[in-house]
Amino acid sequence: MTDRRTFLKGGLVAASALAVSSVNIASASTVATPFTNVIYTASNPGKWDKKVGSHLPSITVEGSNVTLFTKHGMSEKHFIVRHTLVLKDGTVVGAKVFNGTDKEAKSNFELPAGYKGKVYATSFCNLHDFWVNETMV
Ligand SMILES: [Fe+2]
Repeated sequence: MTDRRTFLKGGLVAASALAVSSVNIASASTVATPFTNVIYTASNPGKWDKKVGSHLPSITVEGSNVTLFTKHGMSEKHFIVRHTLVLKDGTVVGAKVFNGTDKEAKSNFELPAGYKGKVYATSFCNLHDFWVNETMV
């Protein structure tokens, strides 16, 4: 479990760097990061540019409650595998693993009391890779 958390933290740092550097990628097409084809965001959908709406997790915050939702069909052959909610320092608030037989890819998490700052939502599709969205709370 520690290895997975370390990997996730590293992935989020990479995703953050990728999001920040996306302006550079847009303005200088020769600039690339090693994560361009591994971590996808709204501004960096890579080869999945037609998949943003069905793979980028939405983040709804109501007080300390955060709901993640990926508007993606669920079947045994093609489904959302996992959601995570991560704080700006890499702390994993929680994760939910889905099965192809689940009705929808929706998860719910409680933020630490008084938390303010950026949160990251991840959603992993078994066919269309790892997606990250973010918001401020
Ligand atoms: Fe997918």
